[in-house]
Amino acid sequence: MTQPQGLFITFEGIDGAGKSTQARALGAWCEAGGREVVLTREPGGSAGAEEIRRLLVEGAPDRWSGETETLLFTAARRDHLERVIAPALEAGKVVICDRFADSTRVYQGAARGELRAFVDTLHALAIQREPDLTLILDMDPEVALSRGLARRSGEDRFEEEGLAFQQKLRAGFLALAEAEPGRCRLIDAGRAPEAITADVIACAQEALR
Ligand code: TYD
Repeated sequence: MTQPQGLFITFEGIDGAGKSTQARALGAWCEAGGREVVLTREPGGSAGAEEIRRLLVEGAPDRWSGETETLLFTAARRDHLERVIAPALEAGKVVICDRFADSTRVYQGAARGELRAFVDTLHALAIQREPDLTLILDMDPEVALSRGLARRSGEDRFEEEGLAFQQKLRAGFLALAEAEPGRCRLIDAGRAPEAITADVIACAQEALR
């Protein structure tokens, strides 16, 4: 039997949009179809990157400058890519990742300062890889924020920045979807989870063909 081709799918969107629930649902669907799946997340996803994650998500919102934060996210991503994502794709697996480089483009590149050139240069040097398919879960930040903060976990460094920040993020993700229609699909996440999952699976089905 020939090995299937690896497929790299990422979920993106503002905090509290339901990415992790949808990532799990897509993983289960892929496995039911006989594919080997690696379900992972950023920041984190490998032992070293999970350690860097703690530096990023805990503490005061102004703990790092935008540049330092971008370096930390990129360091975590590089480790995750080397040790988890790239080997899994080479082995023909489906890798489903909750956030990837688009989060850095939008959070550090646009919403937290004008650092897009810095972000893009670092990505070109240290990461290079883009997903085969990116599912952007779009929803009203007011709804998402009420959900996100309800989950208080000690990891609220970004959520604590409020509604105006989340609205900037949403605009950033919408702009990204428009700029990269070949890779990105925009999904209305303000609906029942089952309806969102149906759209997620339809997009994945297309990519798996
Ligand atoms: P995550 O665990 O996905 O949080 P949530 O489940 O609330 O969406 O990510 C933690 C925070 O890190 C989140 O607010 C988004 C932010 N983030 C960035 O700012 N840049 C990045 O490159 C990534 C991957 C995440």
